[in-house]
Amino acid sequence: MPTFKKTFELASKIKIPAVGLGTWQSEPGQVREAVKVAIQAGYRHIDCAWAYRNEGEVGQGIKDSGIDRKELFVTSKLWNTFHSPDKVAVGLQETLDNLGLDHLDLYLMHWPVAFANQPKKGKPEIDWDLTNDPSPTWAAMEKLVEQGKTKHIGVSNFTIGRLEKLLKQAKIKPAVNQLEINLMCAQPDVVQWSRDHGILLEAYSPLGSTGAPQLTDEVVKSIASAHGATPAQVLISWQVARGIVVLPKSVTPQRIKENFESVELTADDVDRLNKRAAEFGTKRTVDPSKAWGVPDLWKDDGAAKL
Ligand SMILES: NC(=O)c1ccc[n+]([C@@H]2O[C@H](COP(=O)([O-])OP(=O)(O)OC[C@H]3O[C@@H](n4cnc5c(N)ncnc54)[C@H](OP(=O)(O)O)[C@@H]3O)[C@@H](O)[C@H]2O)c1
Repeated sequence: MPTFKKTFELASKIKIPAVGLGTWQSEPGQVREAVKVAIQAGYRHIDCAWAYRNEGEVGQGIKDSGIDRKELFVTSKLWNTFHSPDKVAVGLQETLDNLGLDHLDLYLMHWPVAFANQPKKGKPEIDWDLTNDPSPTWAAMEKLVEQGKTKHIGVSNFTIGRLEKLLKQAKIKPAVNQLEINLMCAQPDVVQWSRDHGILLEAYSPLGSTGAPQLTDEVVKSIASAHGATPAQVLISWQVARGIVVLPKSVTPQRIKENFESVELTADDVDRLNKRAAEFGTKRTVDPSKAWGVPDLWKDDGAAKL
């Protein structure tokens, strides 16, 4: 039986399952089955995005699972080409149509970067006004909540500095911030700041992203072997122990099930993992700042203010 029943509470008091299935790089032809397997194994939270180009299949997987929509927590993300306020509802509607749903549980601004244009090859054209001040995009997202198209809205890849600016303008506080959080990018300062400000964090790339490179870490392996667990279970359970929603991706049925089995980490295990992470500092795997020509994407992480 799956043991990962844990949930966290959003500021709205609505519960969000602590572990969700990631779907980035889950190829068409694989992701439909992966979503069905996950839901049948006990997952109730699916993390999607318009930009992953697979929401149609994710929606089919949801239908195949036979689950009641009310049981699920479905997240998707507004892509950078839809930041202009008149395009925000269009972006969400495309996602809903792809997924075959009439509302989301959570809609995130995928990046704090607005594209005026995204050519098939080469650098996108940045809309600097909406990148420097995304509050008009956020106001359009707030309307989606009023219209019942999504229950919550949030952000992704926002530094503390960018969030502080947005909070000054926002009528609805972002429910979550989804960030790269893993052994090489544990971001303890951001974890503390987010806790203090009532914004729940979600950890993407919890295994180190493509190929799960962090599973071979010696500290992780030794904690896993002490518990008779796998390294993936240790890394996932560590984030839950830190109070963070975690979004492991897999299209492999056995791994999907494995990732949903929690490990009861001791305080000493958590301390060892925190110390191991401190040796790495902040080493991002997912960093489009150069490819997009946005050099200050991560500059203002706010750590200096803490
Ligand atoms: N907001 C954002 O900007 C953003 C950015 C990146 C990711 N995300 C979200 O976060 C999710 C997770 O991040 P991610 O996809 O980058 O990486 P991840 O979950 O850290 O790692 C995925 C990789 O690990 C492998 N894997 C999974 N479970 C495993 C296990 N138990 N043993 C061995 N290998 C395992 C997967 O292989 P197989 O699939 O082949 O099994 C895949 O290669 C994404 O799918 C997406 O939903 C969001």
